[in-house]
Amino acid sequence: MNDLIKTLKIKFDEAFNNNTNKRIFFAPGRVNLIGEHTDYNGGYVLPAALNIGAYLVLSKRNDKLIRCASLNFEDAGITEYDIDNINLEKLNNNWTLYVIGVITSLRKKNINLDKGFDVLIYGDIPNGAGLSSSASLVVAFTKAFNEIYNLNLSPIEIAQIAQNAEHFAGTLCGIMDQFASSMGKKNHAMFLNCNNMLYKYAPVNLGNYSLIIMNSNKKRKLNESKYNERRSECETALNLLKQEIDAQTLCDITLNDFNKYSKKLIENDIILRRARHAITENERCIKAFDELTNNNIKEFGQLINESHYSLKDDYEVTGYELDVLTDVARNFEGSLGARMTGAGFGGCAIAIILKESEKSFMTYVDKIYNNKTNLEVQFINAVISDGAREIIE
Ligand code: GLA
Repeated sequence: MNDLIKTLKIKFDEAFNNNTNKRIFFAPGRVNLIGEHTDYNGGYVLPAALNIGAYLVLSKRNDKLIRCASLNFEDAGITEYDIDNINLEKLNNNWTLYVIGVITSLRKKNINLDKGFDVLIYGDIPNGAGLSSSASLVVAFTKAFNEIYNLNLSPIEIAQIAQNAEHFAGTLCGIMDQFASSMGKKNHAMFLNCNNMLYKYAPVNLGNYSLIIMNSNKKRKLNESKYNERRSECETALNLLKQEIDAQTLCDITLNDFNKYSKKLIENDIILRRARHAITENERCIKAFDELTNNNIKEFGQLINESHYSLKDDYEVTGYELDVLTDVARNFEGSLGARMTGAGFGGCAIAIILKESEKSFMTYVDKIYNNKTNLEVQFINAVISDGAREIIE
């Protein structure tokens, strides 16, 4: 048995003095290749699930008690709830916000868990890295409840319930992260239309190049960041544009139409730039999917660069550290492109680097990034992997 799984089982038994009926689930984090801040604007995204994420050992109880422990927050100890009478005061600054978020979002769909449970969780995604540690947690819970309580949810419903749980926790995120975590496929990215949930898998075949994921180590907390503000700026832009164009979402609007009608936004430069990012990024994502499926890696890398510039200049979600990190990565000989990934404001970036130069790339980035920021870059050791699943040993 895998050492990590063995340890999790032992820790579970120790924490709860319970070694019956336990089952183990894993849900991955994700890396987004391109299509950033388009999901809540009804556009396309191109994420891929990773082999790092959240593990959960769960055993259903015969009574109504919920007991939660986390190996990432051992100091928090065991948090207990009565499933029929959840004490919301306990949620302040406590990771169990996400568990209760899933239970609450199931209730909104008239799904009630009849019995409580003991659960131990462990996540191996660095916190605040922008690789969806929170999405992996809510998807792992939704998947586990689905299997253990026989809820009959489809993988898309699992993603939607998990998304709703994150809204409960304070971030008005789109569907991308939970979708990738629930439905990811080994060695593939998912080209998802967030308007209608139709998707295709695209093999991530970069030939002589590798995808490198780098953590800037600039920490951010999504629900405290400007994420929700960006979302509402996009709504403002859409409402203004709707006076001229028939559109349900920003990404319904083509760049040509936007250029024609953006007069409406001319008085508010910020709103104009936010909308321009969403619309151009959506078009870049569609092109990037084509380039990737046709093995045009150079062109794909160029779109990755353009995505970063737009996130920096129009959407303003990059910040000094991510700009430095991607500049350094982009300027390395043997690099085809680099961009931030995820919500931004810190966290991770990706780069497409010639395989044979990987080692020298890491040495180079490590040194220059540290000189310019005083932070250490962390290269994330992860590969593209399958979505949420039960681990049966
Ligand atoms: C976060 C959100 C996603 C998405 C990205 C930006 O990861 O959870 O829904 O909006 O930011 O593309």
